[in-house]
Amino acid sequence: MTNTSHESKKYPAAMVNITNKCNLRCKHCFVFRNANPTSIQNEMSTERMLEKLSFLQKKHEIHTMLWMGGEPLLRPDVLKKGVTIFSKNHITTNGTIDLIDFPDCIYIVSLDGPEQYNDAIRGKGTYEKVMRTIEKVPEKFESKVMCQCVVTKENETLLEDLVSLLTPTRFEGMTFSFYVPPANDDSRLTWHTTKRRDKAVLEVLRLKDLYPDFIWNSKRTLELTLSENCKSVTERCPSKQYVLPLYLNGEEFTTPFCCYGNDVDCDLCGAWVVFYLASLLEKNGIENYRDG
Ligand SMILES: C[S@@+](CC[C@H](N)C(=O)[O-])C[C@H]1O[C@@H](n2cnc3c(N)ncnc32)[C@H](O)[C@@H]1O
Ligand code: SF4
Ligand code: SF4
Repeated sequence: MTNTSHESKKYPAAMVNITNKCNLRCKHCFVFRNANPTSIQNEMSTERMLEKLSFLQKKHEIHTMLWMGGEPLLRPDVLKKGVTIFSKNHITTNGTIDLIDFPDCIYIVSLDGPEQYNDAIRGKGTYEKVMRTIEKVPEKFESKVMCQCVVTKENETLLEDLVSLLTPTRFEGMTFSFYVPPANDDSRLTWHTTKRRDKAVLEVLRLKDLYPDFIWNSKRTLELTLSENCKSVTERCPSKQYVLPLYLNGEEFTTPFCCYGNDVDCDLCGAWVVFYLASLLEKNGIENYRDG
């Protein structure tokens, strides 16, 4: 499954995988699934990558870039110049490498639960490393720093513990994104049906009432994720329509089926970005990129 209809389209946002290298191997990660290109041989040079991104920015009039990997902070030279190409930048990072300060940038730091669960998914010692990175962020840091937690069947009862741990820290807020499984997923992470996922979505809605400012998912975004609504969103996926995915494939970028790669189960997709864009479209505009 690859995307071929994107050639001349305008995209308000794009997502770029700037390296397939990563110092972690998280159990839920869609990047390293077999159907996706993840070779680390002959990765595109920084210069060529910046040229290509400038070209694509103009061609598709891309406003916001979502920087991804692998681990994007393993290519600081790409980020340092790359963020100047786009009006807004979101950098998703595993938080084990020091953050670099950029204006008009949001760092989305991944943590998937309290220490014991996070480390079971992301690797031993990662929770502690992320906390050290966050503590080092100076008060006068221009980038915003937030957390993203991927909710799965395994951590759905641990979410409030994570929120309580993070509210006193340097994190300015957090979003919950629900697991995007591959087709025929038989892992312990999946709920198998969206009806069974509802328990987790309702838990995040409950937390939203308790921590309205810290949790950045809007209530509407979460309501759209519920089983009664989600199919009507995912069958006309707004992320596929408005976010151009660019995966690194040696010396080229290739566009996979969607941001989550080539082997996805749309019916069970719970990606925050999908339901967030759907909620914006309901309000007739996608210029404002802040859920809340
Ligand atoms: C693929 S990672 C790349 C950036 C960086 N290495 C990190 O971990 O943040 C980007 C985000 O996707 C999330 N993610 C990975 N696999 C996922 C899946 N199957 N469903 C939903 N989100 C997923 C990660 O937890 C992370 O927050
Ligand atoms: S740190 Fe990010 S890219 Fe690396 S394995 Fe984990 S989720 Fe995937
Ligand atoms: S619904 Fe999810 S998995 Fe399907 S195309 Fe959209 S982002 Fe990809």
